[in-house]
Amino acid sequence: MDVRMFKKVRLIGILVVSSFFFVSFASMGKNHGDLVIVDKQPGDFPAISNAVLAHKGAMGVVKLRMNIMKVYAKNMKSIFSITRQWGADSADKIDAVIKSFYSQETDFSILFPVGSHGGVSEASLKIWEKPGEFKSASDEFWQAIKVLDEARVKNNKAAVVDGFRKLGSSCKNCHKNFREKIN
Ligand code: HEC
Repeated sequence: MDVRMFKKVRLIGILVVSSFFFVSFASMGKNHGDLVIVDKQPGDFPAISNAVLAHKGAMGVVKLRMNIMKVYAKNMKSIFSITRQWGADSADKIDAVIKSFYSQETDFSILFPVGSHGGVSEASLKIWEKPGEFKSASDEFWQAIKVLDEARVKNNKAAVVDGFRKLGSSCKNCHKNFREKIN
């Protein structure tokens, strides 16, 4: 399948899934909010609140989390290239990337509401079968970002590189356990 075709098929997939969510969540009406456990992280960085999700329409949740994950991937590339050409302004550049992570911060349980699997989503059912483990994976991720932030405050390149590796492992660990590639 060529790229354009793939994109088309994927878009259609997103639309199908979106309308599924629209129908299923619309029928739940206001109770949708009750499904979601809001567990604010310490620091209270702007999170995507239930109100925002409700505004966007729960149908967009799969697309929303994919977009957030894409930002994460972009951020990892940025950190990688910053560490490769370490200079006087590198710590500040890392700070900007970390801010980008935090600007996308939300409780993963909001991004993965019950029933939001299937279709184009690569979310594994294990997310809902083992919520404690999923929570640990997300805690590991935010903890790694905190450690990376501490390293850049100290302007310590070796510690930044180490923090970057740990952060990368936290992505991989979660994907290994909770993401199922569908192609
Ligand atoms: C706590 C679990 C968890 C963590 C941590 C996590 N991810 Fe993901 N990621 C997922 C799941 C689950 C999916 C599949 C989502 C879906 O398709 O509905 C995913 C999907 C993705 C995708 C594909 C998005 C798309 O368009 O289909 C990318 C890219 C990605 N993650 C990058 C990252 C990077 C980079 C990090 C770390 C900086 C990271 N993720 C951290 C769980 C996680």
